[in-house]
Amino acid sequence: MYRILKKRQLTPVTALYVIDAPLVARTARPGQFVILRVDEGGERIPVTITDFDPEAGTVTIVVQQVGKTTHWLAQHGEGDTLADFAGPLGTPVALPDRGRVALVGGGFGAAAILTIAKELAKRPEVTVDAIVGARTASLLILSDEVGAVVDRFLPCTDDGSRGYHGLVTGLLEQEIAAVGYDLVMAIGPMPMMRAVAEVTRPHGIPTYASMDPIMLDGTGMCGACRVRVGGQNRFACVDGPFFDAHQVDFDEVTRRNKMYRHEERLALERWHQHQGSCATVG
Ligand SMILES: Cc1cc2nc3c(=O)[nH]c(=O)nc-3n(C[C@H](O)[C@H](O)[C@H](O)COP(=O)(O)OP(=O)(O)OC[C@H]3O[C@@H](n4cnc5c(N)ncnc54)[C@H](O)[C@@H]3O)c2cc1C
Ligand code: FES
Repeated sequence: MYRILKKRQLTPVTALYVIDAPLVARTARPGQFVILRVDEGGERIPVTITDFDPEAGTVTIVVQQVGKTTHWLAQHGEGDTLADFAGPLGTPVALPDRGRVALVGGGFGAAAILTIAKELAKRPEVTVDAIVGARTASLLILSDEVGAVVDRFLPCTDDGSRGYHGLVTGLLEQEIAAVGYDLVMAIGPMPMMRAVAEVTRPHGIPTYASMDPIMLDGTGMCGACRVRVGGQNRFACVDGPFFDAHQVDFDEVTRRNKMYRHEERLALERWHQHQGSCATVG
């Protein structure tokens, strides 16, 4: 069992959890993830390691509520336990020793860039800009934590309530013209990562995207997380999650992610109904 030591609500649908998981904390590297189960018999969901502290034995994750399991997790708080917290999984992302890097984050990716930003901050010849987007200022998450470790923190909001008025891709385009980048790394919704790849492609800037296909076993055995990269089948759970964004077949990964949409919607509806009936009984 893995205890939730701290929980912090970041937005109405996003929470940060600090989990007591010493073995994961000891070996975690930036870019890796865990697969957790909230309870015995529950679904296994992949979640990026947002931060880790080998000495305290803790791992921080940030989870956005989308379907049944993430809604169920949201009902857990400090002192509650998770049944499984398997990791670290995936291949740690290869990071440069010099140059100018843009970390582009959206949704839970705005938090997930933190481990990478912290690692790059240890490299004196690397300059890091964080370009982080949200619909409105109150939905920008972990701004202070990410802002503290990067050279420039550049927020973007769709409504202009903080920072650049518009999408991360608009600001990225502007910053490519102004300062230029040697590497761009994107973590966030699939359409955002795809758009980032199209912005950097004509400039020939190497670009990584963190793929989040449906995953099951997380061991490279089941094939659920298959992604086509440069015409080859790769498994995001072992070969990724970071891949060359210019080589990823975004059409296919988007199609595959929608495969179980009907079942996922039914599962969430049933879960809400069950919650309602429990509340009535209670
Ligand atoms: C390597 C990796 C790292 C991830 N890191 C994080 C993270 O740090 N924080 C976070 O909140 N989420 C993260 N995700 C996404 C998270 O795993 C899914 O949101 C979660 O599995 C949904 O489970 P659910 O039962 O709540 O929803 P489901 O009922 O399974 O799905 C509900 C909706 O979410 C979509 N969805 C389902 N699975 C995924 C998926 N794997 N990726 C994207 N959309 C999905 C479905 O298309 C559907 O529309 C990550 C995914 C991967 C593969
Ligand atoms: S999740 Fe099964 S092969 Fe990747």
